Amino acid sequence: MQVRVQVGDLTAIEADIVIVNLFEGVTTPGGGTGAVDNALGGAISRLIEMGDIKGKSGETATLYTDGRMTAPRVMVVGLGKREEFDYDAIRNLQANVIRALRKPRIKTVATLTHGAGIGGLDPKLCARAMAEGAVMGSYRFTQFKASENQDENNGNLGVETLVLVEADEAKVSQLDEGVEQGTALGEATNLTRDLANTPANHLTPTILADRARQVAERGGLEFEVLEEEDARQKGMGSFLSVARGSAEPAKMIRMSYRPRPGDDYDIALVGKGITFDTGGISIKPSANMDAMKADMTGSASVIGAMQAIAALKPNTNVLAVAALTENMPSGTATKPGDVVTAMNGKTIEILNTDAEGRLVLADAVCWAKELGAKRIVDVATLTGAVTTALGDVCYGLMTNNDELASTIESAAATSGEKVWRLPMYKEYDELIKSDVADIKNIGTANKGAGTIVGAKFIERFVGDTPWVHLDIAGVDNMSSEKGWISKGASGMSVRPMVHLAFLLSPSGS
Ligand code: BES
Ligand code: ZN
Ligand code: ZN
Repeated sequence: MQVRVQVGDLTAIEADIVIVNLFEGVTTPGGGTGAVDNALGGAISRLIEMGDIKGKSGETATLYTDGRMTAPRVMVVGLGKREEFDYDAIRNLQANVIRALRKPRIKTVATLTHGAGIGGLDPKLCARAMAEGAVMGSYRFTQFKASENQDENNGNLGVETLVLVEADEAKVSQLDEGVEQGTALGEATNLTRDLANTPANHLTPTILADRARQVAERGGLEFEVLEEEDARQKGMGSFLSVARGSAEPAKMIRMSYRPRPGDDYDIALVGKGITFDTGGISIKPSANMDAMKADMTGSASVIGAMQAIAALKPNTNVLAVAALTENMPSGTATKPGDVVTAMNGKTIEILNTDAEGRLVLADAVCWAKELGAKRIVDVATLTGAVTTALGDVCYGLMTNNDELASTIESAAATSGEKVWRLPMYKEYDELIKSDVADIKNIGTANKGAGTIVGAKFIERFVGDTPWVHLDIAGVDNMSSEKGWISKGASGMSVRPMVHLAFLLSPSGS
């Protein structure tokens, strides 16, 4: 999907279809919609008069131009109520339109920039939302559908080019900037979706590390892999305890984006990267175990975010660390009751080998600190309990720092994503006290608070560094598509991490 801006007139533009819009309650179309209405001899006004379109959100009507315009078709889309219209509405609308136009003879779509003519909305941000929606809405995971990929009339369906047509030349540079950002944000999200949707036999730690390396090379980022032997030398006994049962070698990787001189990082993005989570010796039930191919979504998210950061270049030093391993049962696997030592010297009693995400994150966070992280965000499909608490509507946020938490809340809001903060009262620390080691990796039986317990565990390795933990286990796998949200991997948390990098730059740009 290519998105671009062109100066011109919707009635004279070459495209397979032209998209115009209508707010609820408008009886006389204005702006670009009005110009198209005039060219069509009042056909849109008549649609309104006859009650065939009211401008409600989700409504569409298609007209044939019969030679009165260059493009053969016009689609009028409803924008809903003006007072409810925002950037997320633009994103959702655009994604839905791109999906609806998945037809054999529609390849080039010309459109108004929805919202750009309304007071209160910034044209650049409208264009950004359009591009994000178009790119995210065009996402499909067809890599393993051999039949679709061979059938031109099936697999290759879909809009190829979206042109934002603008009459006012003075607005073009703003729109261009928005389109560039939105495209990078959408493509980063789609990369994360691809990685998260890929089955575990096609995405081992080795393969995922290679994919990250490609992203780093293309974006001019530093890249480093710690092999198991390197991790051992660094004392990453917690991370390695998870890898013990697997035949696939574990990898801890680092990607660095450093526009400013100096060794410190303004922010470290740390991802859980379990390429398959069987639970280990504390093995999971068979039903739905396949979903655990997505237990590397946190790592996929930080890799996606780094791709967009490399493209958009905030003035912020950003480190990404991804802890990649399978969690398998075997004769060499870690056993419940085993005690291991993390990189910072803390001892951990592993009472459930299925609580492995926190074990890999413990050492990943220690490494991020050693590398000079001034702040840390970790992102992980950490607990089933977060789905019980929040469902698939929002993801959980836990923190030791109000300021960083509210920065991330606003980065999420900018993306149209919802986060909800869970408390970190000191009373919860009791739940991870161990009889034999410094801490245990699960909470005390029947005391609940599973999601918070996971965060409390990670906090022990973070120490005083400002930190936010995002538990995305509830939103990693969506049951249906809706607006910019795709079925399967959602790619949530990617765009907020990119916005966060911008928000943390000293100049805010
Ligand atoms: N990867 C799972 C969490 C998960 C569950 C992600 C469902 C996505 C969907 C994690 O490693 C896990 O198994 N957590 C356990 C922790 C428990 C043993 C303390 C859980 O949530 O049951
Ligand atoms: Zn697990
Ligand atoms: Zn897991």
